[in-house]
Parts: sequence; C-alpha cells; structure tokens
Amino acid sequence: MWEADSGDLFADATPGFSRRAQGQMQRDVTGELTREDLDVDRSLRPQTLDDYCGQERVRDNLRVLMQAARERHEPLDHVIFSGPPGLGKTTLAGIVANEMGAHMRATSGPAIERTGDLAAILTNLEEGDVLFVDEIHRLNHQVEEVLYPAMEDFYLDIVIGKGPAARSIRLDVPRFTLVGATTRTGLLTGPLRDRFGISYRLDYYSVEELSHIVSRSAQILGTTLDEEASAEIASRSRGTPRLANRLLKRVRDYAQVRAGGQITWEVAAEALTFFEIDEMGLDWMDIKILLALTQTFRGRPVGLSTLASAVAEDASTLEDVYEPYLLQQGLIVRTPQGRQATLAAFEHVGVTPPPQT
Ligand SMILES: Nc1ncnc2c1ncn2[C@@H]1O[C@H](COP(=O)(O)OP(=O)(O)OP(=O)(O)O)[C@@H](O)[C@H]1O
Ligand SMILES: [Mg+2]
Repeated sequence: MWEADSGDLFADATPGFSRRAQGQMQRDVTGELTREDLDVDRSLRPQTLDDYCGQERVRDNLRVLMQAARERHEPLDHVIFSGPPGLGKTTLAGIVANEMGAHMRATSGPAIERTGDLAAILTNLEEGDVLFVDEIHRLNHQVEEVLYPAMEDFYLDIVIGKGPAARSIRLDVPRFTLVGATTRTGLLTGPLRDRFGISYRLDYYSVEELSHIVSRSAQILGTTLDEEASAEIASRSRGTPRLANRLLKRVRDYAQVRAGGQITWEVAAEALTFFEIDEMGLDWMDIKILLALTQTFRGRPVGLSTLASAVAEDASTLEDVYEPYLLQQGLIVRTPQGRQATLAAFEHVGVTPPPQT
C-alpha cells in the first residue's frame, strides 16, 4: 500500500468551482476536509488497472510493460504522467505500485528542498520501490542534478562539509522506479524528461467514460442513480474524473435534501444548475474569462497576465486549470499575440461578436 509524506497529496483540492457554489462546497475547496471526506475520496480512487476507466492506450501499454518487468523480476522503467489536474496521474502512480507489488513512497517537487532531502529519500528506498514525485517540474536545479545519476545508474554523488574540507562521496541507491507527475510538461527540463523511459500524456475523458466512473463511484457511495443522471453529471464534468466525483457528491447532497434521495435525470440537472455548473460544465470563473475576452476585450488577443488581472485570478491557475479545457472545447485559441475568444465563445455567453471576427 501507499505511504504519503504529505496528506495534501491525496486531499484532492478542487479548483474551478463558482464563488457562490464555493460557499456551499467550502469544505472541498479549502482543503479543510474531514476525515470522512478523505476516506470517501480514497475509496473512490481505483487501486487496479481494471478499475481504472478510460485512457485505454495508456492502460494497454502499462499492462504490457508491467507484465514484462514482473516476469524479468526487474523494477519498471521510470514513468512520467502529464496532463491537466484531476485526470488520474496520482491514481495511476498508486496503481503502478500496487500492480508491481511494490511499496510506494510519495513526495512532491517543492517538498524536496535540498539535495540532502533527496539523498535521504533515495537511500531509504528498498529494491523495487516506487518513488512518486508529484509536481516534478518544480524540483530545483541542484536536486535535479543529483537525481540524474540516481535514475540512470542508481548512485548518488553528494558533497559533505564546506570549503577546503568538503568532499564528495558516492552512495549506492537501490533499483527503484521513479513515477513523476506534472501538469506542465513544457516546464520539464530536457535532461530530466530524457531520463524517463516511459512517458504518457493523459487526455480529457469522454462522456461515456465519465458516466462509467460516476456509476462506479455511486455504487461505492451506496447511492443509486439512473443512466441518464450519470450521463448528465458526466457531460458537465469537463472531461475530468475528479470533477465527476465531486459533482456526484453534490448531486447526492441535493437529492437528499430536496428530492428524498432519488437521483433521476431531472434531479441531477436541477442540482447542477443550482450549483451553477452549465451544460458544458463551465463554472463561474470560466464564464468570467469568456466574458472578459468577448465583452471587455471584444475578441482581440490578450496576454495571459492581462487576462489574469482582468478576472482577478492567478496567471498559473488560469493556464493550468481553466485554459486547457476552454482550448479543448474550441472556446478560446492561443495566438502568438495572446488568448482570443472564438465565435463559439461569443455564442456560448450570448455576446454579439464585433463585425471583423
Ligand atoms: N481513470 C479513472 N477511473 C476512475 N476514477 C478516476 C480515474 N482517474 C481519476 N479518477 C478519480 O479522480 C480523482 C482525481 O484523480 P488524481 O488525483 O489521480 O488526479 P491527478 O491527475 O493526480 O490530479 P492533480 O494534477 O491535481 O494532482 C481520484 O481520486 C479518482 O477517484
Ligand atoms: Mg495528483
């Protein structure tokens, strides 16, 4: 089973909910989750490849590679998973460890501040362990340099002491599998990227796949819902399993209070409207971004930082959390001059496009 250095890694913070709905869902977004909430999140997280829905290519690939490694009694090659938040990178890391019958140690890029921290983690590993490093693009430069030989040849060179008394010693590291996760492949340095033998980019899920995830989660939560209801939740989940599970839980709350616990399609649709999630799954902040691009900037290209201040959101959150889905849905485009609303965006927010667009 897994062992986390920080409970936060598994707390599933959920960016992207509307301000008003945020009031109602405060426990979820502030990360002040109760023990019960965390247990629910953990129970929804698939533990095996068979329980992991969607991402078929990645699953088929991993199945073959893990079987080959197991048959050779070798650890799996280092793996990196990239893609937008909530698509199942951490989940896959856990599955890799489980399926390899390995012990998993979890940490994150920013948590490894000094080379000594990395040395302590690596030398405490056992043969075959999986070391999961979340947000691996945020490793600092010195730590990364020490990691290279550990990944490639399983040794570390660390410097002990300072000044003329300083000396370098070489430590052996057990053969381990590094599983990295990143929302930003673009920020990985070339040498680090090259040291991963296996690399997968996770894509947004289809409505069918998300429907399947919602039904599975409902079963685990002991709730029943019909097919139309799970499809409705799925279609408003922005292609993201984490949001599908979150919306399911909110719909369940709503149904309990307003509809005697019955989750029909009508109840699901009503609940999602109540929480201000529109038919495309766009929330308050997405709409604010689209309104800024269409109304304030009249469809002209806008730089990221200008857009961020226009909607009072952090530029990197905008880039990591909101933009990928809006791009994927064809509501915005990235041009060399900046972000620009498409005609579909004007239509979606009901703004008349200027004549030249
Ligand atoms: N393929 C899947 N099948 C079923 N459930 C899934 C799948 N992928 C993700 N989930 C659910 O979504 C939740 C979020 O997934 P996970 O934490 O692995 O995302 P992540 O990619 O690591 O996100 P982040 O970038 O924010 O760390 C999990 O707790 C799990 O319940
Ligand atoms: Mg994660």
